[in-house]
Amino acid sequence: MQSDIMTIHTQVTTASRLADLDMENIQFGKIFADHMVSIDYANGEWQTPQILPYGPIELSPATAALHYGQALFEGMKAYKTVDGQVVLFRPQANWARMNESAKRLCMPEIPEELFMESLKQLIALDANWVPGKVGNSLYIRPFMFASDALVGVRPSETYKFMIFCSPASQYYAEPVRVKIEEKYTRSVEGGAGYAKAAGNYGASLYPTKLAQEKGFHQVIWTDGKEHNFIEESGTMNVMFVIDGKLITPALSSSILAGITRDSVLQLARDWGMPVEERRISVQEIVDAHAAGTLEDAFGTGTAATIAPIKSIMYKEHEMELPAVANRTFSNKVAAELDKIRHGQAEDVHGWMVPVQ
Ligand code: COI
Repeated sequence: MQSDIMTIHTQVTTASRLADLDMENIQFGKIFADHMVSIDYANGEWQTPQILPYGPIELSPATAALHYGQALFEGMKAYKTVDGQVVLFRPQANWARMNESAKRLCMPEIPEELFMESLKQLIALDANWVPGKVGNSLYIRPFMFASDALVGVRPSETYKFMIFCSPASQYYAEPVRVKIEEKYTRSVEGGAGYAKAAGNYGASLYPTKLAQEKGFHQVIWTDGKEHNFIEESGTMNVMFVIDGKLITPALSSSILAGITRDSVLQLARDWGMPVEERRISVQEIVDAHAAGTLEDAFGTGTAATIAPIKSIMYKEHEMELPAVANRTFSNKVAAELDKIRHGQAEDVHGWMVPVQ
């Protein structure tokens, strides 16, 4: 018999930590809101969802996710509009992408209603944790992991799906210096790069650390065969404006279908800007820079939204890009996304979903 998945059992905290939060001085991902969602999957079905005070969870040392990486996550945000409403940015897109990741990792898909209702109730309960300042938000982290205690390698039979939240300000304090990666690979064709699999991030840490030791913020990932084609930038998708055209790598099995990526492309198309989703060779970027037609470069992601790229290092040559203040497209699109999210511009695509 199907469990009662739409009755959410809620235990409200008796010790809110909200008073400890300095809304004027938020550091990304360090403080967690009062409550969390926890839903177990067992016997082939999702169990009754719970909202609990945020806190540690107890796990067996043999928990499968800790050994074989059967774990995924999502990143999304809630905003406060200028008239005080709490709204979510494109939550259905996160739900759909989460289920794509789940399929790739042999994990159970989560029904839309279960995801959306538990999410909305959590954010409504912790609404006072949503910062009001334009540009700030409540970062929301849904995730799922294999919870069987078993050393054998096979898909788990039990899982835990959870959501917690963390107030967020800007992710990068300054425009990023990046280095084109010529040795390591984030993902290859046929791999799990398109999924938000925890392991993709674990494997990215070492090459990123090497780049950071040389003074770069992150690497630009290239294709796994020849390192000739651009894939992503750090934990973000990457875009360039060359000669008035917005260009980004086409989606593939090695590239994450970013929701910010999709939103930026949509706004560019709305504005009549030529948009190309296709393969981009490293040489094309080098040539455009030499010709003076590389007008803009930036990462797109939930955490950073738009992260301007200051310079790109390739084979000992650092290509400086135009001053960030003079970049027409990335500044315009970042400002427009902020306006839509905070209710200061019309939401023509129906991206914003109120929590109540
Ligand atoms: C995002 O920006 O969407 C991310 O996934 C970044 C996160 C890993 C902090």
